[in-house]
Amino acid sequence: MKILIATVKPFAPVAVEQIRDIFNEAGYETEVLEKYASQDDLLHAVKEVDGMIVRSDKIDRQVLEAAGHLKIVVRAGAGYDNIDLETASARDVVVMNTPGQNSNAVAELALGMMVYMARNLFNGKPGTELKGKTLGIHAYGHVGREVARIAKGFGMETLAYDPFISKTDIINDGTIPVDNVEELYEKSRYVSLHIPANEKTVQSINYDLLKRMPEEATLVNTARKEIIHEDDLLRMFREREDFRYVSDIAPGCAETIASEFPGRFFFTPKKMGAQTAEANINAGVAAARQIVAFLERGDRKFQVNK
Ligand code: 3PG
Repeated sequence: MKILIATVKPFAPVAVEQIRDIFNEAGYETEVLEKYASQDDLLHAVKEVDGMIVRSDKIDRQVLEAAGHLKIVVRAGAGYDNIDLETASARDVVVMNTPGQNSNAVAELALGMMVYMARNLFNGKPGTELKGKTLGIHAYGHVGREVARIAKGFGMETLAYDPFISKTDIINDGTIPVDNVEELYEKSRYVSLHIPANEKTVQSINYDLLKRMPEEATLVNTARKEIIHEDDLLRMFREREDFRYVSDIAPGCAETIASEFPGRFFFTPKKMGAQTAEANINAGVAAARQIVAFLERGDRKFQVNK
């Protein structure tokens, strides 16, 4: 069996080593394609492979059609909006993710960006503290839960909205569940986004929600830039001088925000929530084990294109 690790944004070398070890033990060949410059490089590399590990790499129809032997793709991470699930299913390719494996890294970044913004981007002027402030967690999955755990260490009051998680589970974590999304934004000085990007959520973070946030509001996005309604985001920036936005990767309207609203935003230059050695090892090793388990025993746990 031949497995390709295709990562435009490479894993830490220690993670690649551990992935290789798992495939060596299984008697598989490992190929690595990192930092590739064009989609053509990927199209060429997938020709002979039986399995793939990817991150946010675009696995579209063209890639799937070029991969004639492909049986499984594992997204080492949570969001699989980069993979064409319909085409994968039509071609009998199993798609999996590795839920929870990189969530602590993403949660730490969310809190880190909050501290950075609360301290005025470390410009030396007096800022504010997170202690005693309300944090609304929009979707209480793996990352949301880690965010709540760390935020409590800062002394924040945590609230969460997630229609798919039982209120008891949220309460048991010491977080207050709210009944609807509007209430979450009304009650939270900080809102941290943890929803996936899909047809229901794209551009769903709009002016109607944002305008409800109290004074000195900060929106924290370590999810996907596509979930933000960018015209509404700009409107919010214009109408509310107290509003701030921190995001793991810049929005399309970053230049406008930079020129019109200095000091009120922070964007990472590259998506880096999951860019820690630990997260790379956790997600990469989980992905490798899932591939072996599927190819050897037909184990389909974590399949997302059922
Ligand atoms: C995820 O969906 O797991 C995170 O957004 C991390 O994505 P990345 O592996 O591309 O950094």
